[in-house]
Amino acid sequence: MENLLRYLVKFFAGIYFDFKKPSQRKDSYIAVTGKVLDKKELNNMIDATLDMWLTTGRFNDKFEAKMASFLGVKHFLTTNSGSSANLLALTALTSHKLGNRRIKKGDEVITVSAAFPTTISPIVQCGLVPVFADVNVGTYNIEAEQIEECITPKTKAIFLAHILGNPINLGVIQKICQKHNLWLIEDNCDGLGAQYDGKYTGTYGHISTFSFYPAHHITMGEGGALATNDTQLFRIILSFRDWGRDCWCPPGKDNTCKNRFNMQLGNLPFGYDHKYTYSHLGFNLKITDWQAACGLAQTDKLLGFIAAREKNFNNLFLGLKQFEKYFILPSWEAGAKPCWFGFPLTVKADAGFDKISLCKFLESKGIGTRQLFTGNILRQPAFTDDDISFRIRNSELLSSRDLGPQHYAMLPNTDTVMNYTFWIGVWPGITQEGIERIIAAFGEFINSQKK
Ligand SMILES: Cc1ncc(COP(=O)(O)O)c(C=O)c1O
Repeated sequence: MENLLRYLVKFFAGIYFDFKKPSQRKDSYIAVTGKVLDKKELNNMIDATLDMWLTTGRFNDKFEAKMASFLGVKHFLTTNSGSSANLLALTALTSHKLGNRRIKKGDEVITVSAAFPTTISPIVQCGLVPVFADVNVGTYNIEAEQIEECITPKTKAIFLAHILGNPINLGVIQKICQKHNLWLIEDNCDGLGAQYDGKYTGTYGHISTFSFYPAHHITMGEGGALATNDTQLFRIILSFRDWGRDCWCPPGKDNTCKNRFNMQLGNLPFGYDHKYTYSHLGFNLKITDWQAACGLAQTDKLLGFIAAREKNFNNLFLGLKQFEKYFILPSWEAGAKPCWFGFPLTVKADAGFDKISLCKFLESKGIGTRQLFTGNILRQPAFTDDDISFRIRNSELLSSRDLGPQHYAMLPNTDTVMNYTFWIGVWPGITQEGIERIIAAFGEFINSQKK
């Protein structure tokens, strides 16, 4: 009876879905990103609703197991956004449980300032010092050969995104991490499905992070995750995610440790309930089972999404190559197989037009454009209007209040990205007709500039 009733609810919801197609845009605008959903996501979310479990539950268990197996990692743990995943990743490395490997206030973390903001904000929020290296114009990732000059005795970690799904130079970066005993955090929020040396990105770092916001390769509305092969790090991340508790019982379960009233922890009385024992001062950053239900249906489509992104990227690349005189086309490291989040282009300084005029033109033709996130975060009000300590490459400790042209000059490519780089979409919802429209619009703009 229950199954029949579930079937009927889903059947009628499916009729509504077919009638309304709620996840599809009704106009011809070619958005830079978007979600591809069908009745499978809806059915799973209805099942999650009928369960009325509400918090992290059976769909989450399946989603985590499926993603761990897809990536080939030991632990995959969901959280409510990619930004939360980044915060948890870095916070985990400050845990007292890591002994002398723990990152302490004032320690330094190497990153880049042409970035998504929440790759950088956890560094400052954890009381650490970001150290900025420059990026390459073409890959838009760190100039790996600058990393060594950033290192001081205070350097404890490298925290970098595979920006727009383009893998960082993991070969060089892993060697540096080993040589200097540094933690590596991969922000893989843009890069699910990308590979380096035949292995998925998000499997190289001590901790890696993922985003399932609708713009990303798979979605659950809002959502994120962390991956690690290190069981101690997994337990620490779990603790920080779930209020800081020492207990690892899933929602609705008790006494998983079989020692619930039988431990001496901290200065608490012997046998104080393990469920209410806190080894960290944590957060609550879990997801609901509706989110997991949606994400689980998306995992079945992941390989198809990866292939569609690759096809769209390749067709755009072929079509835009004729305009190479005006643009720097995207490039990637040897050994890297990007899974593009977007298609980045840098307008050459002598192109004869500026990036904003081109973006405005493309938008007027119904083609979405985006900037490369922060451009240069050191120029954002979050830095210029505050008092943040940081370093640039091998500089002394600087305050954001003192930022001036001499500092920006140390990251010339980052400013080039801010001034000349933008990106357009490659997501699976873009059709071949859309790709042709994009290429034609570039041609039209360039011809109009010649007159
Ligand atoms: C590189 C990168 N890191 C982190 C995030 C944050 O993810 P979320 O939007 O899920 O918080 C994003 C978001 O697009 C991103 O592009």
